[in-house]
Amino acid sequence: MFSLTFTYVLLVWLYSSAFVPNVKAAGTDIALPFVRNPPTNASQILDPRLASFSIEFSYLTTFGGNKTHPNLLTKELMQRLVERTGVGPDVRPGGITIDSSVYDPNVSALTLSESPSGGIYRTTFGPQLYESLLVFPNSSQFVVTVNLGNDTITIAKNEIAAAVEHIGMDRIRAFELGNEADHYAGGSRPSGWSSSDYTAQFLGWSSVLSRNLSLPPHIFQAGGFADDPTPSASMTTVDIINEGVDTTGVVKLFAQHTYQYSTCDPVRNAIATLPNLINHDNITAYLDLWKPQIAAAKGVGKEFVVGEFSSVSCSGKQNVTDTFGQALWLADTILYGAALNISRMYLHQGATLVFQSSNQANSPGFSWYDLWYPIPTDRYGSARASPSFVAYLLITEAIGPSNQSRLALLPSISQTLSNLAAYAVWDPAARSIKEGPARLVLLNLAVRNSSSSTDAGQVTVDLRQWTKNVGSVRVKRMTSAGLDSKDSRLTTWAGQSFENGTATGSEIIERLESSGSVTVKGSEGVLVFF
Ligand SMILES: *[C@@H]1O[C@H](CO)[C@@H](O)[C@H](O)[C@H]1NC(C)=O
Ligand SMILES: *[C@@H]1O[C@H](CO)[C@@H](O)[C@H](O)[C@H]1NC(C)=O
Ligand SMILES: *[C@@H]1O[C@H](CO)[C@@H](O)[C@H](O)[C@H]1NC(C)=O
Ligand SMILES: *[C@@H]1O[C@H](CO)[C@@H](O)[C@H](O)[C@H]1NC(C)=O
Ligand SMILES: *[C@@H]1O[C@H](CO)[C@@H](O)[C@H](O)[C@H]1NC(C)=O
Ligand SMILES: *[C@@H]1O[C@H](CO)[C@@H](O)[C@H](O)[C@H]1NC(C)=O
Ligand SMILES: *[C@@H]1O[C@H](CO)[C@@H](O)[C@H](O)[C@H]1NC(C)=O
Ligand SMILES: *[C@@H]1O[C@H](CO)[C@@H](O)[C@H](O)[C@H]1NC(C)=O
Ligand SMILES: *[C@@H]1O[C@H](CO)[C@@H](O)[C@H](O)[C@H]1NC(C)=O
Ligand SMILES: *[C@@H]1O[C@H](CO)[C@@H](O)[C@H](O)[C@H]1NC(C)=O
Ligand SMILES: *[C@@H]1O[C@H](CO)[C@@H](O)[C@H](O)[C@H]1NC(C)=O
Ligand SMILES: *[C@@H]1O[C@H](CO)[C@@H](O)[C@H](O)[C@H]1NC(C)=O
Repeated sequence: MFSLTFTYVLLVWLYSSAFVPNVKAAGTDIALPFVRNPPTNASQILDPRLASFSIEFSYLTTFGGNKTHPNLLTKELMQRLVERTGVGPDVRPGGITIDSSVYDPNVSALTLSESPSGGIYRTTFGPQLYESLLVFPNSSQFVVTVNLGNDTITIAKNEIAAAVEHIGMDRIRAFELGNEADHYAGGSRPSGWSSSDYTAQFLGWSSVLSRNLSLPPHIFQAGGFADDPTPSASMTTVDIINEGVDTTGVVKLFAQHTYQYSTCDPVRNAIATLPNLINHDNITAYLDLWKPQIAAAKGVGKEFVVGEFSSVSCSGKQNVTDTFGQALWLADTILYGAALNISRMYLHQGATLVFQSSNQANSPGFSWYDLWYPIPTDRYGSARASPSFVAYLLITEAIGPSNQSRLALLPSISQTLSNLAAYAVWDPAARSIKEGPARLVLLNLAVRNSSSSTDAGQVTVDLRQWTKNVGSVRVKRMTSAGLDSKDSRLTTWAGQSFENGTATGSEIIERLESSGSVTVKGSEGVLVFF
């Protein structure tokens, strides 16, 4: 390896559009043991649309705009993802408002019927609604959720027929009957409404709709339940498979929703704090609850997706989910979801809905967890990307465009560094599998607040074992003023911020320190390319 150092510095210099000085840092020094081969339980091949979106149905026009007035922020942000994976993310217009929606060919785009307190009790939509989907990349696929809550099959039939007409089957990933049917009991259904009732109605409706509308086989996304699959859950993927939901050839895949924390009531609101959220053990322990559900779907040869999710239900929490902390939470949650073989995760975008809970902390307005605010508002100020948007850039670059990547969470390095998560990505299009991972994600979830001058969590990771025989190593960094920072202009991916949807600033591609290490501050992530 003669003159490796020289070549390497030169190459990195050529790669870089800016030079970053390497300051030998204080903090913990560790050597990350090299993992050459994918472990036997490494993920399936990653879908480049792993990081996808769910958009609250009643706000679809707000996020998408229409043909003459497309929402340019949404359009630009989606392009940033296509640039990295080659395909647009999936989009699922859905959420609680779908269960009071009605298609009417005579209305224009969207009409909301609201209560005096701002509760949306009906969403009537017409053909122009589909213009909102034009801002999404042409390679994006749509999950079409229809009204099951109303218990009137004609409403669902009209909605599916309209979607087939205006979106086209070639762009439809799947049809979904209703949103979170495990929450219908005592509301749109009798209090005894159970899993077997859902399964029976799913089988009946999917059969009639498939026949009546000549739908292709294996086109429905089943499930879509809200509650965590603990023993007290009333409906799960395991339950409905046992009840025979997959016996008629209509199911394409299974979905459940995940919201780790909540502001729907004061008890849960109290624990929805940044230190609790941004915690690798909490994140992995929570998603591990879905392992039997994923296994059940895989057992019948189907994908499992998280059809709607965010960190804090009932629209997030101010000063928690609108911070850079949400970016770290998203990166660890989505990459760990991929490690568990969840095919795609649909991050929910929307607004606080009065009928979500009678006891919630939030009042109407965009959700505090939205990845972007599509239009200016009094409460949030200008339309812009949130500080969490950069997580989607890290994730999409970790996956890449090859359709061949697989990943694994590496074993934790030590008890004291339990908040340092390392994901290795194998991608034969970038590096032969037998030589080792093509990319490595290091997420340091230790708290570094913008207000505090000290960073107890900084880690310097020795990667010399990883870089043998590697010509040039590049590093991209996801960082911000601090975990609690709410300023998108100070939140960067590879040195650039994306508050208006396009990159601002010069791209910074770093190289390893001369010791062969990379330093990751608390509340930072890096993506290393070998
Ligand atoms: C994920 O799927 C792959 C491919 O089917 C399999 O080999 C692996 O064991 C699975 N991993 C987990 C954690 O289930
Ligand atoms: C498109 O959106 C703009 C801005 O919201 C609105 O003024 C216009 O009426 C809409 N066009 C149609 C055809 O609805
Ligand atoms: C974002 O800002 C850049 C630079 O000022 C500008 O060129 C671009 O048009 C803006 N994009 C949007 C969507 O506003
Ligand atoms: C739409 O308008 C036509 C003509 O006015 C009417 O015949 C039809 O019943 C209307 N459809 C709905 C769903 O209201
Ligand atoms: C989709 O394709 C059409 C036709 O080529 C093009 O006009 C449009 O800009 C594309 N949409 C997006 C979001 O790229
Ligand atoms: C069902 O939809 C009809 C027509 O929009 C509406 O009148 C009725 O109130 C709805 N029922 C429920 C339970 O939402
Ligand atoms: C679908 O249902 C409508 C009435 O609801 C009926 O007129 C039509 O014949 C049905 N089509 C098929 C293919 O079953
Ligand atoms: C999450 O992590 C914190 C430590 O930051 C811990 O105190 C808490 O009990 C964990 N669990 C939950 C559900 O927040
Ligand atoms: C969030 O922080 C702002 C400014 O620091 C403060 O005014 C507001 O009350 C905080 N909100 C909550 C819910 O803690
Ligand atoms: C993969 O297997 C290892 C070793 O048994 C285990 O520690 C790890 O949790 C497994 N990974 C997943 C994602 O299940
Ligand atoms: C990856 O798969 C998508 C379809 O899912 C396809 O459009 C794209 O061209 C593929 N990319 C490569 C590099 O094969
Ligand atoms: C960092 O800020 C968060 C939210 O403001 C707070 O909960 C936490 O205690 C702070 N941690 C430290 C170490 O300052």
